[in-house]
Amino acid sequence: MRAVEIRGAFGLDRLRVGERPDPKPGPGEVVVRLRAASLNYRDLLMVRGHYNPRQPLPLIPGSDGAGEVQAIGSGVTRVAVGDRVCPIFAQRWLGGEPDPRRLRSTLGGPLNGTFAEQIVVSEEGLVAIPSYLSDLEAACLPCAAVTAYNALVTEGGLTAGQTVLLQGTGGVSMFALQLAQALGARAIVTSSQDTKLEHASQLGAWAVLNYDQEPQWGQRVKKLTGGRGVDLVVEVGGGGTLAQSLAAVRVGGRIAMIGVLSGATSELALTSVLMRRVRLQGIMVGSRDSFEALNRLLEVHQIRPVIDRTYPLDEARAALEWMASGSHFGKIGLTI
Ligand SMILES: NC(=O)c1ccc[n+]([C@@H]2O[C@H](COP(=O)([O-])OP(=O)(O)OC[C@H]3O[C@@H](n4cnc5c(N)ncnc54)[C@H](OP(=O)(O)O)[C@@H]3O)[C@@H](O)[C@H]2O)c1
Repeated sequence: MRAVEIRGAFGLDRLRVGERPDPKPGPGEVVVRLRAASLNYRDLLMVRGHYNPRQPLPLIPGSDGAGEVQAIGSGVTRVAVGDRVCPIFAQRWLGGEPDPRRLRSTLGGPLNGTFAEQIVVSEEGLVAIPSYLSDLEAACLPCAAVTAYNALVTEGGLTAGQTVLLQGTGGVSMFALQLAQALGARAIVTSSQDTKLEHASQLGAWAVLNYDQEPQWGQRVKKLTGGRGVDLVVEVGGGGTLAQSLAAVRVGGRIAMIGVLSGATSELALTSVLMRRVRLQGIMVGSRDSFEALNRLLEVHQIRPVIDRTYPLDEARAALEWMASGSHFGKIGLTI
């Protein structure tokens, strides 16, 4: 099979498409013929060696993929040959709380990932694809959409009539925009680019603001919500944005801590956190149960992922470079 590999050393320029032996399913295992994959910011960090510099190489990157079951090992009962499936992000996290063992079972590092023609996983590490979605659309779900679902629903408790602030217009935030609307909530979207803000408005954002032109956006968000503040912030910025998020969130509101695009450390007014009873909740994607709950919500509302561009597998490096440029809106896909 053909597979994209980080071989020898980290770096976008070290990415190669190579040949590997076709995987064979052991007992309880399934070989999936992948038809599509999608990129996450994590893949860029992984390829550059910033996610885990001690990750053993070679590694097939990619944590999002979709395809059909090609072969099953002895004892497999959850899926059959021909079923359309997505491998889940953390292969051992099926439900309940995560623990270190479950969190170490993620595709695209430490385990080989989805930028390949085939992948072998446990029969437990798969979910069925909603029938209305194409392979490419389904390949956008395992990391970004499950993360958005957990930020808004499982941990965020977002309900109809509430307001959520979404940072930037990348994969996680655009899924969060679609899910917020499905839940009957209002979304305020920030971006560094006005054209992306227009696009977010067309997709249903209730209000938009440019965080480059308005670096102190927290107070503006408060005004937009009549002085109350938002119920939830989807925090992908991290260090450089958390203080504004704190200014934007209501008393008793929540901040779903997802990414550190603007820095991994922060100096915060902690009295504000306690006096205003703000809840800061770290998010790590989610379990198979969350993925299946997400799929039910997507199906009811017939939500289709927002896909910016698609590249063939051989051009995975160009796709990652496009992501690094920050020009994309929503997800970037790979066809396999
Ligand atoms: N914890 C988890 O489970 C989890 C899961 C998925 C992703 N993540 C993390 O979440 C972040 C987003 O992931 P993604 O896959 O959605 O990435 P992505 O598609 O590359 O989106 C990144 C977007 O974030 C926006 N951004 C960049 N710097 C920003 C800043 N200082 N303030 C506000 N927005 C900023 C930009 O939007 P504009 O171009 O519109 O300005 C950019 O397009 C990454 O840090 C990723 O590692 C974490």
